[in-house]
Amino acid sequence: MSQTVAVPQGLPMERDAGPFNPPSEITRLRGARPVSPMAFPDGHQGWLVTGYEAVRQLMADTRFSSRGDIGVMHVPFETPGMPAATEPSPPMPGLFIAMDPPDHTRLRRKLIGAFTVKRMKQLEEQIIDITERQLEELAHLTPPVDLVKAFALPVPSLVICEMLGVPYADRETFQVNSAKFLEREVSLEDKMGALGALMTYLSELVTSKRATPSEDILSDLAGHDDLTIEELTGAAFLLLLAGHETTANMLGLGTFALLENPDQRAELRANPELLPDAVEELLRYLSIGDIFYRYATEDIELGGETIGKGSTVVVSLLAANHDPQRFDNPDALDIHRKARGHLSFGHGVHQCLGQQLARIEMRAGFGGLLRRFPTLQLAIPAGDVKLRTDMNIYGVHELPVTWTETAP
Ligand code: HEM
Repeated sequence: MSQTVAVPQGLPMERDAGPFNPPSEITRLRGARPVSPMAFPDGHQGWLVTGYEAVRQLMADTRFSSRGDIGVMHVPFETPGMPAATEPSPPMPGLFIAMDPPDHTRLRRKLIGAFTVKRMKQLEEQIIDITERQLEELAHLTPPVDLVKAFALPVPSLVICEMLGVPYADRETFQVNSAKFLEREVSLEDKMGALGALMTYLSELVTSKRATPSEDILSDLAGHDDLTIEELTGAAFLLLLAGHETTANMLGLGTFALLENPDQRAELRANPELLPDAVEELLRYLSIGDIFYRYATEDIELGGETIGKGSTVVVSLLAANHDPQRFDNPDALDIHRKARGHLSFGHGVHQCLGQQLARIEMRAGFGGLLRRFPTLQLAIPAGDVKLRTDMNIYGVHELPVTWTETAP
């Protein structure tokens, strides 16, 4: 591999190639050196992986540990002023996204049954009902309306609250705190404060579910006597956070992308049978969960480079999903593309547990929105849409939209 490529100093994050494309620096690096050394802001050296094949291989290899990654942030290396760490801190109990086998396996296995394709098929009608009710409420509002607040966030929130048995009325508590937790520029102190508030709330909830179970996933989980309250709390935190922040941003940013591609939107509206493929393509194209961290537990060969034991490795799923070696014309949205094989749900042992749920929510959400709001359009210039460049899960902060008619 060429050694002449400049080593990035920190992670290139600026969306200078438009709201839907990887930063130009990332695209350049992927072409020149898809497994590249990089310097972290605190000065220590690590690696940045941007090529599709290398990312896929890395995620399938458990020698790249997930300890220290909580899927959305990596405390030791992302927080200015923190000392350089040679090893990630031990994971929070129950937070199995940041664990390796066999600890990871022990926890994930207890939840697999609740998220199977079959189980999700059974829930599909309920999810469609929730979505349709929210669309009905939206239709009664006077535009312009912020689609994030009125649709994209409530739908997945209502669904995950229902499934987990979290009272929807408590959403303020966890939405405010999880937003703070996911924000990049928030001080470590504030982040930990938000985490503490979430943990206190969830710990009380799982304790009450253990004492008086009902028909929901957290009650089922609490029925496993070998799980401690701390583990239950950590798992509840992961499910709640992963369950509402991700799909909400797909619905918000995905609607923006469809409004920016009116021909494809019209085609999708006319042919709803194209929805499943369109959802896969939106997942690939938008890659809202972009940056993930791994930690090399031994010297590992990847893409012709040797990643030294102890290195922190940063993965860009957005870069991998826009790799021209894997997808033709990758920076274009193409709902006819067979985009399965994208890495937006990750790959390997940590592959997204909620992916079938997310797919159902997105089909119901995009399908319903296109059907009921045929004249939907942005209420502000596209360039003024506030992008979540400051958050660990990408999307839009707000999407002001308007319409002239609704359909049944
Ligand atoms: C893991 C993306 C929706 C629950 C993951 C990972 C990705 C991802 C990339 C792998 C992380 C890693 O390897 O470190 C997404 C996207 C979603 C979505 C793009 C929406 C479109 C959901 C939903 C749930 C969920 C609705 C519901 C509970 C989880 C959990 C894990 C996970 C529990 C950890 C799995 C493990 O470590 O074994 N997700 N996710 N996700 N996701 Fe999702």
